[in-house]
Amino acid sequence: MSLPGRFITLEGGEAAGKSTQIARLAERLRRQGRSVLELREPGGTPLGEKIRHLLKHDPDGRGMSAETELLLMNASRAELVRSRILPALRSGHVVLCDRFYDSTVAYQGHGRGLDLAAVQSVIQLAVGGLRPDRTLWLDVAPEIARTRLAGRKAALATSEPSDRFDEEQEAFFARVAHGFRESFHADPDRWRQVDAGGTLDGVEEAVWSAVSDLFAEA
Ligand code: TMP
Repeated sequence: MSLPGRFITLEGGEAAGKSTQIARLAERLRRQGRSVLELREPGGTPLGEKIRHLLKHDPDGRGMSAETELLLMNASRAELVRSRILPALRSGHVVLCDRFYDSTVAYQGHGRGLDLAAVQSVIQLAVGGLRPDRTLWLDVAPEIARTRLAGRKAALATSEPSDRFDEEQEAFFARVAHGFRESFHADPDRWRQVDAGGTLDGVEEAVWSAVSDLFAEA
């Protein structure tokens, strides 16, 4: 599917700094005069944000089956693709998405242990032929992620409802990281690995180097 816009996704485990880096990349592109849409998954539409709440915070979501989780992630995605991503790409905008289908492969496939072919077919139904032009893997050492996550939890302790994913055990996140690594190696044309353990400015430059060719004028 070739569309006039550019579609870039950021992937990685918890506390990799994806949302901060998306905001910085969006700002840089806007300064260049481009129209940029920032989205996140699950979420990004009114319906998707309700599904996000069910998936992450709602007490009724506790203990949901892995299959339910897979389908809810992709219900949110089907809506986001049709109501926001495709129209923006058709209009020539840049779309930056905090997570996309590679998170489903990593979390529901490798993390939860669902059959990878079944996961792929649900994703296919949700996105049709849409594929990111570039996917960045913001890779951060588990010790750094743990420290950042602990700081974030402490800062939000009083205001933020608990998050089902943040409560997962280390072995789950190790399987997720393995999942990202496999996807990265399987499709080197689309993926770039970014060391997300450095300073915000340093990571911003690495992110820019990993996408700037998409904006080189012909
Ligand atoms: P985040 O926006 O803070 O990263 O939270 C989203 C959570 O949802 C995160 O723990 C990863 C998880 N997730 C999946 O398990 N599968 C998916 O397909 C997506 C998009 C996210």
